[in-house]
Amino acid sequence: EAWRPEDDEERRGASGPVRVRVPAKVNLHLGVGPLRRDGYHELNTVYHAISIYDELTARRGDTLTLTMEGEGTGELALDDSNLVIRAAHALAGYAGVMPHARLHLRKQIPLAGGLAGGSADAAAALVACDALWGTGLSRDELAGIAADLGSDVPFLIHGGTALGTGRGEAVSPVLARPTSWHWVVAIADGGLSTPEAYRELDRLRDTGAAGPPLGSTDALLGALRQRDPRVLAPTLGNDLQDAALAMRPTLAATLKAGEAAGALAGIVSGSGPTCVFLTADAADAERVAAELEAAGVCRQARTTHGPVHGARIT
Ligand code: C5P
Repeated sequence: EAWRPEDDEERRGASGPVRVRVPAKVNLHLGVGPLRRDGYHELNTVYHAISIYDELTARRGDTLTLTMEGEGTGELALDDSNLVIRAAHALAGYAGVMPHARLHLRKQIPLAGGLAGGSADAAAALVACDALWGTGLSRDELAGIAADLGSDVPFLIHGGTALGTGRGEAVSPVLARPTSWHWVVAIADGGLSTPEAYRELDRLRDTGAAGPPLGSTDALLGALRQRDPRVLAPTLGNDLQDAALAMRPTLAATLKAGEAAGALAGIVSGSGPTCVFLTADAADAERVAAELEAAGVCRQARTTHGPVHGARIT
């Protein structure tokens, strides 16, 4: 019998293309503890996946290649330093297969924005290549590989709302009532470096210039169990915010403009410079986003909702 290319593809897994959608994250609570000996900080955080997505398509190929369009095109390196390529290599190594795929990334999550875009893309690559190669790993196995790629990557496989401990890689879901929260995300011009934001926080703490640490997530977790955004608003917090404001003083005006526009609360997302605002409902979110853009305090303001699912085949 003649060999047909489809036969080989059937045996090796999906015939492709595999398309995976992955969300951005915000931290509703980002409690930063002491610097550990491995260079990471102990975290106590609540992750929340929101409806801004990157999309990764994986097709069969004879080598491993990555192309992209959208946010960051021309700025983001597409070589072995890219987290997508590193994720594909890590999965192939773990599963004992050749890392062959043609990957294409459509980015909407800004680079170095504090929304974990790079980590999201790594999570998408793990889920996409696992399907393309038919390696069939469990979510927990994928999360294990994910943790080696970056602290936020395991959460982006899970999505939803989840508690993060350790350096952020130990994730457990927060069981909350099915509620949709409405957020406005104010995207800044240019990014901020995450390692620099952590170093700046350490410096502010050493000199006594940092605010008191956030402490426990109890108030936030309690508020998440209710459906009232007015209850949730005062419990949002981010220990990295002072550092982000020191590095990018104009963010103070962004936060102020969002609250003046009627947002219930505004915080810096992760290590910034993106700011995220909680609003009462979808209509309020539209109004706040329009006012933020009109005030000229961000590059773009987008209405989003959360929680949404993690990296998933569409
Ligand atoms: O884990 P990831 O590679 O995404 O982290 C990027 C950088 O952010 C780390 O190299 C470290 O400087 C800082 N970081 C930290 N503590 C954490 C997570 C990240 O200091 N828990």
